[in-house]
Amino acid sequence: MMAAMNSPDASVDVHELLDRVRRLAADGPATIAAAATVDELRRLDGEFLGKTSVMSQAKAAMRFVAPEDRKSVGGLLNEVRTALEAAIGQRQSAFDSDARRERLAAEALDLSEVMDAAPTGHRHLISQTREMLEDAFVGLGFTVAEGPEIETDWYNFEALNMPEGHPARSMWDTLYLEAGEPESVLLRTHTSPVQIRTMLREEPPIYVVAPGRAYRSDTADATHLPVFSQIEGLVIDRGITFADLAGTIETFVKLLYGSERTTRLRPSFFPFTEPSAEFDMSTPSGEWVELGGCGMVHPNVLRAGGLDPEEWSGFAFGFGLERMAMQRHGLDDIRELITNDVRFLAQF
Ligand code: PHE
Repeated sequence: MMAAMNSPDASVDVHELLDRVRRLAADGPATIAAAATVDELRRLDGEFLGKTSVMSQAKAAMRFVAPEDRKSVGGLLNEVRTALEAAIGQRQSAFDSDARRERLAAEALDLSEVMDAAPTGHRHLISQTREMLEDAFVGLGFTVAEGPEIETDWYNFEALNMPEGHPARSMWDTLYLEAGEPESVLLRTHTSPVQIRTMLREEPPIYVVAPGRAYRSDTADATHLPVFSQIEGLVIDRGITFADLAGTIETFVKLLYGSERTTRLRPSFFPFTEPSAEFDMSTPSGEWVELGGCGMVHPNVLRAGGLDPEEWSGFAFGFGLERMAMQRHGLDDIRELITNDVRFLAQF
């Protein structure tokens, strides 16, 4: 597999990273199976899959992989991750059953207090959801992009086909900062400004997802938070159609929720896409839940991103991570996600 570099950033050696991923694929499962203690297993988990692991570095380096190679490299990363996770799960259940046997043998000894004294933490449910989505999209050949939470009016509105005074701006209750000209600097109301930043930074073809926080001047209730998380998707290539958009949404929902789920698109309006739609996912009980918005990137948005709408077309989508997490775990009040009650968080 050729993983040509398409970036002048020489500090990331994609070949070297992929070699390390392959070596990890070859040796990792045996090393995991040989872990002698739970602590060692936990250390290997961090070393192989944690934030600074080769796997995470490789995920971040996807943007330096030539676009035509991303699908195969993403597939490789997914395969290796799945294999490592499976090996860790197996070793962990072996420890679990050993522990159960020992506990039964030493029935008179109550260890619960000792164990409670040093509870182990874990990633917050929202972070877990974000990472799961990143991994799913990387597996489909996307790269992960990011943008600032403090934005200018231009990126958040104007470049997204909403000039000053455009009525659609009222779709978002905006929090402005006291900086520069009045109402020129704001907390981004959605992750869509990352579309513009990506188009201005990278040459198409573009296949990115951009997870991050967004802010709206909203009062919290069971289904809304003033500070929440979204994930944006942007695809720009030659000859992209609405069918590609529908297929991508269907694919990732099935990947994350299982093949019995399906999706539907309903006509809607966003200034930055034309046509626009909202997308829903089916639930096991046969109802539909709304996940987010999407559509074909508006020609004015392509132009703001420095692209010629005669040459390039694309689609974009955006949806809330909290809603996604609530769906996965059957939560009915979004506020539980931010109260930081350990009794709640420890369940996930
Ligand atoms: N930015 C929109 C929102 O927050 C969602 C969206 C993203 C719609 C991309 C279309 C395309 O409501």
